[in-house]
Amino acid sequence: MLQIEVKDVKKSFKDVQAVRGISLAIERGEFVALLGPNGAGKTTLVEMMEGLRTPDSGEIRIQEKTWQKNEKELRKIIGLSLQETRFSEKLTVLETLRLFASFFDLADDRAKEVIALTGLENKQKSLTGTLSGGQRQRLALAVALLNHPEILFLDEPTTGLDPHSRLDLWNILKKLKDEGRTTLILTTHYMEEAESLCDHIIIVDEGKIIQEGELSDMLDENSHNLDELFINLTGKKLNDIDEIVQK
Ligand SMILES: Nc1ncnc2c1ncn2[C@@H]1O[C@H](COP(=O)(O)OP(=O)(O)OP(=O)(O)O)[C@@H](O)[C@H]1O
Ligand SMILES: [Mg+2]
Repeated sequence: MLQIEVKDVKKSFKDVQAVRGISLAIERGEFVALLGPNGAGKTTLVEMMEGLRTPDSGEIRIQEKTWQKNEKELRKIIGLSLQETRFSEKLTVLETLRLFASFFDLADDRAKEVIALTGLENKQKSLTGTLSGGQRQRLALAVALLNHPEILFLDEPTTGLDPHSRLDLWNILKKLKDEGRTTLILTTHYMEEAESLCDHIIIVDEGKIIQEGELSDMLDENSHNLDELFINLTGKKLNDIDEIVQK
């Protein structure tokens, strides 16, 4: 059974055609990297797969089910972290996770488990408003992992993380990959991240898929690594993007 099937999906915002006819299929256990320059349409596409935005046309199925008819059921099997997450600033880390755990009817223990998994033990009693950017990202991941999701969507989970925290997050995801029951869709501007975690690479530009496949099949004498491939395909230097991301 396909975990995600997207068929000729389109989405516009007023005069901006953010997604211009994208189709893709993702199997169980695949780790997929969604790459593309700023404004390519990655977040719009991911939010439609997450059932948070409705496509103007086309079809999306999660485990063969549509969002329109199966939202309650699908919410139980997916986990997500948005590009920017806001938490209630008056709750602590632990209280926030317990609140989300209650939405899923999960035991209180699960909040503690994801705190340990994401290395937030020493911040569990801190108000979320006092967390650093990187700690907030970890909390967003902790929330995404609460319900043991079969399908995990992470939109730029490591943007702004220090190198050490980024490695920690990669290790958490690698462990999930080894366990083999999670399907991951990850957007990132870090080619190294895509290379080290994902086998299935999808490059999007101007609302369309411009290249897709296994990394090893996509490289050739002109593109020795994902960095070079990205530049050759999009005509944009990743350094430029990194600078934008870091601002
Ligand atoms: N709510 C919105 N209203 C109007 N335009 C939007 C909205 N959301 C996205 N867009 C536009 O749609 C296009 C795609 O945006 P999207 O956020 O999907 O890009 P992205 O690939 O995620 O970029 P980034 O790498 O910067 O996160 C952009 O031109 C953006 O300005
Ligand atoms: Mg985005």
